Amino acid sequence: MEFSQLQTKRQAYNTSQYHNKTIEKSLRMKFLIGAAKTFGIRKTPLFQLLVFSKIKNYIRFMTLRQIYMNFDPASSMHGLAMHADIFQSFMALASNLDLVSQHEDGSYTLNESYLLEREEAQKLLDFHDGHYSKSVSLLHKDYLFIENLISADAKSSLGKIMHTKDMQYVREVLMYLSEINGLNLYYKVHPSFSEEFYTNLGELAFHTYTKDNFKRFLLDKEFESVLDIGCGNGNYIDVYREYESKQIIGVERQEKVYEKLKLKYKSDADIALYNDDILDIHFDQQFDMINMSYMLFYLTYEQKLDLFYKLKQILHKNGCIVICQYYPDFEINQELIARHNKKWNLLSRYKFDICNSILQGEVLLNNMLADFAQAERWDIFLTLLDSCGFQVSAITPADDTYYSYFITITHKNGG
Ligand SMILES: C[S@@+](CC[C@H](N)C(=O)[O-])C[C@H]1O[C@@H](n2cnc3c(N)ncnc32)[C@H](O)[C@@H]1O
Repeated sequence: MEFSQLQTKRQAYNTSQYHNKTIEKSLRMKFLIGAAKTFGIRKTPLFQLLVFSKIKNYIRFMTLRQIYMNFDPASSMHGLAMHADIFQSFMALASNLDLVSQHEDGSYTLNESYLLEREEAQKLLDFHDGHYSKSVSLLHKDYLFIENLISADAKSSLGKIMHTKDMQYVREVLMYLSEINGLNLYYKVHPSFSEEFYTNLGELAFHTYTKDNFKRFLLDKEFESVLDIGCGNGNYIDVYREYESKQIIGVERQEKVYEKLKLKYKSDADIALYNDDILDIHFDQQFDMINMSYMLFYLTYEQKLDLFYKLKQILHKNGCIVICQYYPDFEINQELIARHNKKWNLLSRYKFDICNSILQGEVLLNNMLADFAQAERWDIFLTLLDSCGFQVSAITPADDTYYSYFITITHKNGG
């Protein structure tokens, strides 16, 4: 969708009318999920729906536990001693899950049904396995359901389903979200997964959701030279190769990942690879296409400024930068783009809603895990682009759940 068209629709949109708030409670969805329950654990699309229906409560359970660990939920919650990004993204997650309400002074209170007696709160903190009172009991049941899925032995019937193409990524992303359990909201933490885990998770996401959309996205584009920054395992390079672009350069700062890449493309004379930080490389040439997928959150705001000033010099006059990224606070754009693409139907809306909760969890982890610098924010990113002489010209969903988008960026005023 053209960005100018989206902006016009966004200006006419009445924010208080956001249309997806109550989809979780939709009677038609409850009916479908009821049907999914009767089919049980089988390799059917209904099983996927059943798993999806548990995800918000899985995240709710972990988030509620974090509230009890880090705040006094009986009074107003402020983030005075916390990093502002962490507090803001944590409360955005808790609000998304309807656990808390925000007040005019910026503080939050826990919604009444989640206010627990002392003993009950202690059980929650201890991951107690027994009986909980009503409000927490369902969250706990769904939490255990998902934990069981994640840890199912690959040889068991459940494990086999969870390792099919459709479920593998869902499984890994839920594993990744379990990092929320290990957070302490006052400090950044080192993830329990290796840096390579994210690169591989990116690869799985690419093959499951993004690749076909990216091929379609490239159909009306012309380019001869490509720079892929933070190219990981070369997922995008593989697609660019099919388009016979004359020259492809990949930059990857992790040595282990770079070594694998070098081996992968050892007989490809048109592909050059650099094992370096993009901020430390100088290019004498210009590119028609510059690609960055899930890498901007590794950089601080100042580093991003440096990067985009650099890109200003090396992007061809008529070239474009393509970013693949997810953003919090994007729900209204999501609705407008989905309506524009005629994808605003009951089932899509249900999936968008669940995926938006997963997304808020990922954003919190982008702010909390030591591997990342800071979660991406759409409003801040637009301002940064503008100050570096760029503009967004189009936004295209990168997957069918409208989680991530291909953001097409061009020179402002024609370069
Ligand atoms: C999440 S992975 C995504 C990989 C690939 N772009 C994809 O979408 O499949 C991000 C990659 O960017 C690399 N990266 C992060 N910051 C970088 C930098 N400053 N310079 C070069 N590579 C970087 C990381 O090592 C990682 O492999």
